[in-house]
Amino acid sequence: MAKRYAVILAAGQGTRMKSKLYKVLHPVAGRPMVQHVTSQLNAVNPDEMVTIVGHGADKVAEYIGDESRLVLQEEQLGTGHAVMQAKELLEDKEGTTIVVCGDTPLITSETYQTLFEHHEQESAKATILTAKAPNPAGYGRVIRNEQNQVERIIEQKDATDTERAINEINTGTYCFDNKALFEALQHVSNDNAQGEYYLPDVIEILQNRGEKVSAFQTPDFEETLGVNDRSALARAEKVMKRRINEKHMQNGVTLIDPDNTYIGLDVIIEPDVLIYPGSIITGETTIKSDAEIGPHTEIDNCFVGQSTVIRHSVAKDSHIGDRVQVGPYAHIRPEASIGSEAKIGNFVEVKKSSLGEKSKVSHLSYIGDADIGDNVNIGCGTITVNYDGNNKYLTTIEDDSFIGCNSNLIAPVTVGEGSYVAAGSTITDDVPGDSLSIARARQTNKEGYASRIKNQKKD
Ligand code: UD1
Ligand code: CA
Repeated sequence: MAKRYAVILAAGQGTRMKSKLYKVLHPVAGRPMVQHVTSQLNAVNPDEMVTIVGHGADKVAEYIGDESRLVLQEEQLGTGHAVMQAKELLEDKEGTTIVVCGDTPLITSETYQTLFEHHEQESAKATILTAKAPNPAGYGRVIRNEQNQVERIIEQKDATDTERAINEINTGTYCFDNKALFEALQHVSNDNAQGEYYLPDVIEILQNRGEKVSAFQTPDFEETLGVNDRSALARAEKVMKRRINEKHMQNGVTLIDPDNTYIGLDVIIEPDVLIYPGSIITGETTIKSDAEIGPHTEIDNCFVGQSTVIRHSVAKDSHIGDRVQVGPYAHIRPEASIGSEAKIGNFVEVKKSSLGEKSKVSHLSYIGDADIGDNVNIGCGTITVNYDGNNKYLTTIEDDSFIGCNSNLIAPVTVGEGSYVAAGSTITDDVPGDSLSIARARQTNKEGYASRIKNQKKD
């Protein structure tokens, strides 16, 4: 098989995004656009991948530097000029070069593969991936001759009204005979409305020389969406979301409302998980079977065990065991580990703490820097007082303990196994196992005092 090379164009400023962030780094489904392109291209195993970078090159390198060689285009003089920057690396090589724009994040590896195959079967010097667009505005239009062969591409800004009426567009993706590409690029001029060196002009140059130029029209315009502004970014997000959600539904996950469910690309969800609307599940999250998530729940980088239920809550960088109940309105912050059959109730915040099996924090508590054993009951309003303004300290609560409502546990402190802390206590010293600790002022009742006060007021 002929060698395959890939060139990704990712140096343009992205002026129409009106953003500090470099265009190809704008995320779609949480991943920079250009990374979608490299990962789909990698699936067709090119022998070499070169990405043309410009503004924000260092940042782009952080995301794709391992996958692709990078070449700097110092001044952005157009897509043709961009490809020229790969000349030194590729010019002498025999084979097929696919050129892809870094702002078309939805094209799949299947489409790249089909384009390669079409190009190779036709023995063409250039094959352009085209699509029929319901609204072609903004794209280059494909001009065909009487034999229906592609003659040239005309950019929107250079097109006449008749040309603009054509709805077959250039998707910005092409396969070229590598040597023919670099040879023809030398003849591209910048004599056009934008004063840029247009890559699509290579098509006309080759055609005029009688070389074989082919087109492959994909039936899926949606896939070829070029993201130039925020409206297109939102459309891309929608398409990607639908694809991801469709995959999970095919795998046996119930999404009550897929239009309102946002799942990241790396999330793993087992069959028979039920997800309610408004759930945003991202990062390296795994959700085991029969769990119920949402409505209105954010989960990022978490493990969620089997049959666990998380409602109206936020969880990040944490491990939540099997058959756990979370929420409504709980906040599980990084490095929490919640044991199986535990309960985290409403208005409870847990941070960098472990909670053993069957332990319960049912209402209105802060659990921070705590190590809590199995079968512990933490009463409503309990606070682990973990921070003195300089340092954080650990609270340890051993198995089978019972912490009464509205207690303050001033860390570092340990409550021993099976002990009780009376409601309203402020615990400053360790509590031995099997004891009851009461740390609050004794109550005094002054009988008859109320009417004395009332009578004083009348005077
Ligand atoms: C381009 C095509 C157009 C096609 C459309 C598909 C040209 C002249 N036009 O238009 O026919 O319909 O894509 O989406 O090619 N870039 C560089 N260096 C540059 C200029 C651009 O690396 O000097 C990169 C950009 O980062 C971007 C890609 O090339 O990823 C395309 O550039 P863009 O300005 O978005 O081209 P379009 O106007 O969309
Ligand atoms: Ca574009």
